[in-house]
Amino acid sequence: MRPHSPLTPPRARRRMAGALSAALLCTAGLTAGPAAARTAEAAAGAGPAAAPARGPASPHAPRLPDGLAKTPPMGFNNWNSTHCRADFNEAMIKGIADLFVEKGLKAAGYEYVNLDDCWAEPERDANGKLVPNAARFPNGIKAVADYVHSKGLKFGIYTSAGTRTCAQAMPGALGHEYSDARQFADWGVDYLKYDNCNNQGVDAKQRYITMRDALKATGRPIVYSICEWGENKPWEWAADVGHLWRTTGDISDVWESMLTIFKANAPLARYAGPGHWNDPDMLEVGNGGMTDTEYRSHFSLWSMMAAPLLIGTDLRKATPATYEILANREVLAVDQDALGKQAEVLASEGGRWVLSKPLAGGDRAVALFNESDRPQRIATTAKDAGLPQAGGYRLRDLWKHRDTHTGGEIAATVPARGTLVYRVSADRQWPQYPPAVETGIARDPAPVEIGTEARLGTLTRNLGQAPALDVKIGLKGPQGWRVEPVTPTEDAALPPGRTLATAWKFAPPAGAKPGAYELTLTTDYRSPRGQRVTDALAVPVYAVVPPPAGTSYASDLTPVTATNGWGPVERDMSVGGPQAGDGVPLRIGGVPFAKGLGAHAPSDITYYTGGRCSTFAAQVGVDDETGDRGSVSFEVWADGQRVADSGKLTGTDPAKTVSASVAGAGTVRLVVLDGGDGVQFDHADWADARFSC
Ligand code: GLA
Repeated sequence: MRPHSPLTPPRARRRMAGALSAALLCTAGLTAGPAAARTAEAAAGAGPAAAPARGPASPHAPRLPDGLAKTPPMGFNNWNSTHCRADFNEAMIKGIADLFVEKGLKAAGYEYVNLDDCWAEPERDANGKLVPNAARFPNGIKAVADYVHSKGLKFGIYTSAGTRTCAQAMPGALGHEYSDARQFADWGVDYLKYDNCNNQGVDAKQRYITMRDALKATGRPIVYSICEWGENKPWEWAADVGHLWRTTGDISDVWESMLTIFKANAPLARYAGPGHWNDPDMLEVGNGGMTDTEYRSHFSLWSMMAAPLLIGTDLRKATPATYEILANREVLAVDQDALGKQAEVLASEGGRWVLSKPLAGGDRAVALFNESDRPQRIATTAKDAGLPQAGGYRLRDLWKHRDTHTGGEIAATVPARGTLVYRVSADRQWPQYPPAVETGIARDPAPVEIGTEARLGTLTRNLGQAPALDVKIGLKGPQGWRVEPVTPTEDAALPPGRTLATAWKFAPPAGAKPGAYELTLTTDYRSPRGQRVTDALAVPVYAVVPPPAGTSYASDLTPVTATNGWGPVERDMSVGGPQAGDGVPLRIGGVPFAKGLGAHAPSDITYYTGGRCSTFAAQVGVDDETGDRGSVSFEVWADGQRVADSGKLTGTDPAKTVSASVAGAGTVRLVVLDGGDGVQFDHADWADARFSC
């Protein structure tokens, strides 16, 4: 059992549905969160508390040289891709600088090529100077800096406001601020990331201000990146200390980590501005732990938040999709906008987020972000997004690179974990663009029993001020699926504000495997000026088999979907750690159970019951593997109605019987919620869980 840190949450919410389960059950490695561990390290770090090298720093001391980081810094840092592995070396850094130029990233605005922890030898030389690590940088740091500069780029370095850096590999700058800053300036350093480990309990403001003044004393313009993980609320005091400050613990290359950091950083919008940015940590785009859709969301959200954009993947191995994301100039222009405003969150409900970022010249960037695991419609208006009243608006999709116009509504069905970003302008030229047409579904399709057919309703709505002409809707299934319209799929002219609703029937082939599939919904129309527009939306559908008659253990049935707050839902064992199959036998209050599901809050497991089951029953509680910790509640939902609720159960409670009538229900959801004290240690067992059908 391994409780997880809220700052580096596990890869969570995985599905375990039928055919796709094997592929989706793979797990990602975890990195340790810095804050807790590092504070402990600092506390354990031996040696006397080091004092700053020069007299007490004044909080009113002058800023770093002005004019730096007018827009959020863009560049590269090796940490997320290499940590302290041997492939962090001169060849890598030079290779990245080369690729910045060759691949157009420099032209797109990426400028800094930065070293993170582990670039130095463990000890200072006899003169107290830092010594470049001989294996990684045999030619020294200046040679690398010179190389980076020769490409017209800038060079950054790292150390810690403590006695040693976070990886413990090299000395930190506490007590050596002026000498280290001098050494950095002599090498041609343009950017310093200043970490927080092994800080000996010295006041953070004092430590960070001392280095600011040391950097200033060098006379060299150096961007100063404060990395104290938000522990001392730097957004409240660091605007005249550093150019950017981390707001959270370390990011890791998993969806939940990115999401947690987004949620912590987004409310800090009012503190960001030119020369002083919130830093939600470096990019994970391209590192392999998220899908490209998830990486596009990561990149979109960071850009909306005017975050520093430090590429954290080894570009020498990056895929074309990674380059396409990182070099999306239209999204980069949102991040780099001269006004320097971080987006405000306009709405966040049910995993549907709307963010609006004011841009220089009066436009707004509007992001529709779907945090959830199914497509959802997300809507706002130009007015709510902050645009002035106008007869119409130009709506530019920054991922599709396409213009349409809207009368004011900004709405779309956004794929699971996807983000749409628009630049919205009260541009008088709006009538020259085709009307925006929204393509969506009436409601989530119910699971379809193999051997039967199901229905789906699609909605095609004109958001513009001009008719959409020759509208054609299509729906396609995977190979072998039968998909047929029941009502018209075409409209010669769809007037503004009108919806074409189409009913469809579809059926999986007789031999289909139970599992998750996709239908593809397409829209095709033209504007009165003759511009053609096409769109596509993936609609997930689930092919299922009816539950067997008699009593079945839930752990012997295949759920339609299953999401879990930590590792995958386990069958006949506790949730254990992040991997599949790493639990222990189920045990609640000292009582063992041979059968059941090992879940972790927040968890949501859906079973197909097809109207054929009468009851569900289980013994629920927090698994003994947490010690006495954790608190959760268990709920059973039958077709959208809550039919059982365990109330709050803690790690000291015995198992509680939960039973409910599920008669007539098409689906039954088993839900575990946090008991109100955060999800740590919320290892939740559905012991002895069975359906009578
Ligand atoms: C801390 C920082 C990271 C990275 C490592 C290096 O955890 O927050 O960004 O610099 O240290 O050890």
